[in-house]
Amino acid sequence: MVTDLGGFAASTFKRGVNYINIPTTLLSMVDASVGGKTGINFNGLKNEIGVFNNAASVILDTLFLRTMDRENILSGYAEMLKHGLISNERMWAELLAFDVEEPNLKELGRMVAESVAVKQRIVTDDPTEQGIRKALNLGHTIGHAFESLALQRKPVLHGYAVAWGLISELYLSAIKTGFPTDKMHQTVNFIKEHYGKMSITCDDYPTLLELMTHDKKNVAGIINFTLLGGIGDIRINQTANKQEIYEALDFYREC
Ligand SMILES: NC(=O)c1ccc[n+]([C@@H]2O[C@H](COP(=O)([O-])OP(=O)(O)OC[C@H]3O[C@@H](n4cnc5c(N)ncnc54)[C@H](O)[C@@H]3O)[C@@H](O)[C@H]2O)c1
Ligand SMILES: [Zn+2]
Repeated sequence: MVTDLGGFAASTFKRGVNYINIPTTLLSMVDASVGGKTGINFNGLKNEIGVFNNAASVILDTLFLRTMDRENILSGYAEMLKHGLISNERMWAELLAFDVEEPNLKELGRMVAESVAVKQRIVTDDPTEQGIRKALNLGHTIGHAFESLALQRKPVLHGYAVAWGLISELYLSAIKTGFPTDKMHQTVNFIKEHYGKMSITCDDYPTLLELMTHDKKNVAGIINFTLLGGIGDIRINQTANKQEIYEALDFYREC
């Protein structure tokens, strides 16, 4: 929150002054402090006001994580899982095998460096999200809808919503782009074990669909997904119809 708000304030103060990010949460280390997206929520919508502007530098030290609570570690770890899924099987397998409940901070530090390098590479190639940067949206189309629905009930941490979004979007990947079902189940089991699930019913589907339809990343009202054909096999600009999305939500409820 601090790197988003600080980055936005710095980017608009006197039409912009340089800023440096020193993230102290895992989520900001692997995601929010890198890539130049800054913003604040407005009118009940996430990141409605903001600009793209990179920090002059980002200083990372996982020592900060010694005092982080379990939930905030898990929240950041969901983005690391995403980075593993869009990268390669070795990274993904290492993330599933790591003891995230009792993290060895030295080991985690090495994994954080690798994770942030994934994001850095992608945002350097495509700073303004015209193409490959959309890879980073994996899990986020349905994840943001979960996050917004939760705001009307009991707010959840961003990474939890992303983890639940990954469950549904890996299912969509399996039925639409051939993602292997064994790897889908392994990832889903990891998420269920550590993140639990926010309970939803069929009555929530229209609201969730409505939230996905209004995502600012859509073009011409068509819901945009980033899916996978396999680990590291990124398929941007995918879409899904109402029936497929409802099926993916059924899978989330029943898995
Ligand atoms: N700009 C981007 O690219 C981007 C990417 C992902 C997420 N985000 C945004 O980031 C926000 C979430 O940020 P966050 O997860 O860093 O949460 P946060 O900034 O809200 O911090 C979570 C909690 O941890 C505490 N905290 C911070 N460092 C600590 C430490 N070292 N030890 C103990 N407690 C500590 C904070 O006081 C706070 O209570 C969301 O609003 C999300 O939308 C932005
Ligand atoms: Zn995210």
